Amino acid sequence: MTATVVLGLAWGDEGKGRVCDLLAHDVRYVSRYSGGNNAGHTVRVGREEFKLHLVPSGIVREGVVCTIGNGVVVNPEVLEQEVVALEKRGVGDVRERIKVDGRAHLIMPYHIALDSHREIALGEARIGTTNRGIGPAYEDKVARSGIRVQDVFDEGILRAKLKAALREKNAIFEAVYGERPYEVDGLLSWLLSFRELLAPMVSDTGALLREALGRGERVLLEGAQATLLDNDHGTYPFVTSSNPTVGGAVVGSGIPPGYIDQIIGVTKAYTTRVGDGPMPTELFDSTGDAIRDAGREYGTTTGRPRRVGWLDLPAIKFAASLNGITHLALTLLDVLSVVETVKICVGYEVDGRPFSGYPMHQTDLHHARPVYKEMPGWGEDITGCRMRGDLPAPAREFVEFVESEVGVPLCMISVGPEREQAIVEKIGA
Ligand code: IMP
Repeated sequence: MTATVVLGLAWGDEGKGRVCDLLAHDVRYVSRYSGGNNAGHTVRVGREEFKLHLVPSGIVREGVVCTIGNGVVVNPEVLEQEVVALEKRGVGDVRERIKVDGRAHLIMPYHIALDSHREIALGEARIGTTNRGIGPAYEDKVARSGIRVQDVFDEGILRAKLKAALREKNAIFEAVYGERPYEVDGLLSWLLSFRELLAPMVSDTGALLREALGRGERVLLEGAQATLLDNDHGTYPFVTSSNPTVGGAVVGSGIPPGYIDQIIGVTKAYTTRVGDGPMPTELFDSTGDAIRDAGREYGTTTGRPRRVGWLDLPAIKFAASLNGITHLALTLLDVLSVVETVKICVGYEVDGRPFSGYPMHQTDLHHARPVYKEMPGWGEDITGCRMRGDLPAPAREFVEFVESEVGVPLCMISVGPEREQAIVEKIGA
């Protein structure tokens, strides 16, 4: 038994939680390795649906241990809210089953304030961040001025670190943004107030996972955000500040790469994006509106309407190759039942010339015009399909075209929002 990574191939919200949910019956450990509460998973507990932003969605499965790895940035207030909400809904042993790595960095109130001030200052050039302080928290981590979960248990170090951090931060708040400075004492007592919450959860989560893997248990690494939002490989600067790609899974969870034997890349049957930045297949017409409505494409974290477009194969193939995916999961196929003709982008033209592959140069991506293959739609309800053979012929052709282009086997096709509304193939193989 080894590790499975589930990660998004485009700009997030692909339905990774859905795939993790399918796999969770087979695992005892589910781990988040990057990002923070900029993510959003909709999970169901009994008949209730609710949203998690930080805690891995595996928590709703009895007995599953959920780790928040060293690569995650943790807003302690959000952690507390999610723990309390889970307990209120009757989810058992939440405080014992969530393990937070002592090396993970904390999102501080000044990170959130900086995120918003910067976005406002950028105006038209804004990133469209979730305003959760993610970027500034990772900046401090790399600058070696961040506050870590373990620091909450050493008041002396905490005070010294806050003092050092505020020296620069306050200068920026006062001089650049005309804001009042933060005070060490206020932040110190805010942080100390989370000691009780964090105490039973703080762990060396990498060691925990390595031990579990050594015992032969399967670990599920649950990606947040997605490949095209990766700080190194995505559509920079319109990206997040972490590495949601498979390399980030190794660094951010503290397990050796050799343990990973399955990498499941998740894509919708179309494309969505929240926030700004290039999106070559974006639709601005009534077809886009129909897909947005049918797919309920509104952000889990911010409620923003998502930008919608056709499936972008050059981008998906780039992401598949970058992550070395072993399986593909295709979600929300049922949403395309609302369109008469389905389009798939099979290549780009840049400045009027055919472009081979996926552009490395951001200017090329901004100038990329999609080249489409058109396929007949199926125009019927497919939510009852449970095997590939149940799909109407045009839907089957669409699925098989995507699978052969990406070049790895499909392990799951979702055909509706309910847990059982899926065609499951080869998962766990
Ligand atoms: P940040 O992660 O809040 O800094 O936002 C940077 C970019 O990533 C913005 O375009 C966000 O909309 C996008 N983003 C961050 N998290 C998610 C997510 O979970 N789903 C989709 N987009 C996201």
